[in-house]
Amino acid sequence: MPFHNLRFRLTLWYVLILGVLLISFSSFLYLTLSKSLHRDVDNRLRSLAELIASESSSPLSKFGFGNFDQALERSLNLRPVGKFIQVLDESGNIGRKSDNLRNVQLPISLTALKNASKGVVTFETNRSFSNSPLRIITFPVLEQNHMSKIIQVASSLEDVEDALNTLFIILMVAVPLALLVASLGGQFLANKALGPVDRITQTARIITSQSLNQRIEPPKAKDEISRLIETFNDMISRLDQSFRQIKQFTADASHELKTPLTILKGEVEVALRRKRTDQEYIQVLRSNLEEINRMSKIVEDLLLLSRADCGEVRLEREDINLTEILTEVVAQMSFLARTKNLRLEMSNHSGEMHIFGDRLRIRELFINLIENGIKYTEAGGAIRIHLTKESLREEGGLLTWAKGDQAEFAKVTVSDTGIGIAEEDQGKIFNRFFRVDKARSREEGGSGLGLSICKWIVEAHHGEIRVESQLGSGSSFIVRLPLYSVNHEKLRPKKVIAVAQSG
Ligand SMILES: Nc1ncnc2c1ncn2[C@@H]1O[C@H](COP(=O)(O)OP(=O)(O)O)[C@@H](O)[C@H]1O
Ligand SMILES: [Mg+2]
Repeated sequence: MPFHNLRFRLTLWYVLILGVLLISFSSFLYLTLSKSLHRDVDNRLRSLAELIASESSSPLSKFGFGNFDQALERSLNLRPVGKFIQVLDESGNIGRKSDNLRNVQLPISLTALKNASKGVVTFETNRSFSNSPLRIITFPVLEQNHMSKIIQVASSLEDVEDALNTLFIILMVAVPLALLVASLGGQFLANKALGPVDRITQTARIITSQSLNQRIEPPKAKDEISRLIETFNDMISRLDQSFRQIKQFTADASHELKTPLTILKGEVEVALRRKRTDQEYIQVLRSNLEEINRMSKIVEDLLLLSRADCGEVRLEREDINLTEILTEVVAQMSFLARTKNLRLEMSNHSGEMHIFGDRLRIRELFINLIENGIKYTEAGGAIRIHLTKESLREEGGLLTWAKGDQAEFAKVTVSDTGIGIAEEDQGKIFNRFFRVDKARSREEGGSGLGLSICKWIVEAHHGEIRVESQLGSGSSFIVRLPLYSVNHEKLRPKKVIAVAQSG
């Protein structure tokens, strides 16, 4: 169906609009020219008739005698070429006439006669008098409010009709020709404009998840089509990246589960080689349980992250006392810290702080951070938790709030005096499964999902988490969470950017 073809439709519309324009223009040109030419003929007839009328009724005129043509020439100094002239008396009898009429006379219609008797001038076109149409003026001459004679002047319309016919033929040829050229041109333009669209279609057709490296060559001109191609290419790039991430993630997850499974298998196989004592079996089972726990934790974390990705994890939000939660978490973790001979301290300069959030998730967040601090700090070091309040203003500030709103944040810093994180790794530690030192992390029971979960929890609470670290001298994880306020629901931070003011 050609109507499903954009090229065809574009060309059709183009030709249709041009056609309407050309036909209107041609008709207008033809009608105006025809009107103006006819008006010219009528004006000339009328002025001649008026001239003859005034001359013939002048008492001093020598017009009334002899040959009519000679009389005209004598008294009016004029020899009207191609004009037929005749004079009738008041009862309609033919009086004098120009020589070119010979023995015929100009026709006079009943209407013209009636009009003349009322003193009204009549213009008529007669097509039966000769081969070419004749334009006739019937002009009554009044003397003392009484018609004394009628002057008829006629002229052939041949020239006028010839000119109009020629114009008509030219237009009849030129308009269709112009439309033909326009349709070819329109097709060419449509082809040129829509060619890239075909390339997009072809590329899109051959792209599958295996060939996401395909791109469409953008045209040189920066126009709508090139923007479309850019957008399309960007979209493929993003898809490509997502697919890569999914592949990487699947590979990482399988690998992560494979290690404990291999250990389990090895331990069980070795244990089964010969008969063991009860003590040995208990030892093997204990070790098995450890690996099983590790796998459960990984699977649980993965499930949480993937459900969070799909927006399926609901937060049980309520007004929670952040100061209290942190105090509890620190007390709970201090045992672990002591066993590694680490100091765990907390300081708070801003009193009680409340946030609107999920108690369990917020606990999980700080347990993860403190656990990392303990894991990656050598014995004798310290982990410090510092809680403070921060006021942030909009002006390109930390968060993009509704204009005019002043936002208050709880800023929690978890810093340690541990091994630190190299500059190039700082951007990656929040990625899933990323660990600077896999062996060490595994020894400590980590799988590299902890910080990914922390990041999700903070962002789900409209906050921000950042890391500052120096290799060898320690790391600081800085978490900002919006404080709970009465009109909390009104405050919807979109993105965390920078600190404006510290309190
Ligand atoms: N406090 C810290 N000091 C040094 N390195 C850290 C610290 N916290 C996290 N990291 C690094 O970031 C990685 C990712 O952390 P995380 O996601 O919690 O995984 P895990 O603790 O299971 O290894 C860790 O493997 C470690 O290399
Ligand atoms: Mg961790």
